[in-house]
Amino acid sequence: MSLDAVQANISLHHLEIKSSDPKMLAEFYSKVMNMNINRLTNQKFLCEGPGRKIIITTGKNKTLGYAGMVCKNEENLERYKEFLKINKCEINAFVSEFYQSGSFALQDPDNNMICFGVLKKENKFLTKGIYAPLQHLTFASKDVEKFQNFYQRKLGFQVTDRVVKSTGELATCFTTSNHEHHTIACFKSSQNGMDHHSYEAGEWNNIKIWCDHFAQNNVKLMWGPGRHGPGNNLFVFIEDIDGNWIEISAELETVIGRPPKNWPQEEKTLNLWGKAIMRS
Ligand SMILES: [Fe+2]
Repeated sequence: MSLDAVQANISLHHLEIKSSDPKMLAEFYSKVMNMNINRLTNQKFLCEGPGRKIIITTGKNKTLGYAGMVCKNEENLERYKEFLKINKCEINAFVSEFYQSGSFALQDPDNNMICFGVLKKENKFLTKGIYAPLQHLTFASKDVEKFQNFYQRKLGFQVTDRVVKSTGELATCFTTSNHEHHTIACFKSSQNGMDHHSYEAGEWNNIKIWCDHFAQNNVKLMWGPGRHGPGNNLFVFIEDIDGNWIEISAELETVIGRPPKNWPQEEKTLNLWGKAIMRS
């Protein structure tokens, strides 16, 4: 029997991000995001910390290579693949250093590549470093309705919340592939691409530790601290040297079967505590 994404219990595990200077960006993640660097090839680096792995490779700045999603076991992956086939998703085999055989990739309507697989047994996270596992990725898109249809209907993600403009048009759509409030979300924008990626530090005190760490590295917060309406999570944002937005989050809502809520597109929805970055 097939399983949708939530039933298959799929999590975001790693990202591949492109940069015109991958070495310099990898050095930023190593220092500021408290990760080790492994040089995989001349132009490809793996940055690793507790619960987080980011591959940085050559390409256009602020571009996603792919999002690496994981299933806990092979049976779930097979049954999820069956779900995608029933929904006529076009899937292609995908080979990576992290996944066992059987992993696959697909493209969303904005050509973002999303990969699914089961981790190789030897693939462990580092334990040394400040805590904050990679948790969600958000896209920017000219068409959030298309995003919602694809992730909900074709990929079997659960819509947890939406932000709706006064015109009725979607400004943001939050979707999940497990019980975390969102694992992939999308903000309306004048261009397609990445909006931000986020690390879940769990508790407020860990955000304080991260902010002190950023200060030691002379990196200013670009937004926050605040609390989002949808997801109810505490947040701070910084920007990397290529202009990618990075979020450190805590207290993200756990969602089990509640219906999605529509939020008005206003400052308070994006930040219950203060100023918001409205996007569109
Ligand atoms: Fe976020």
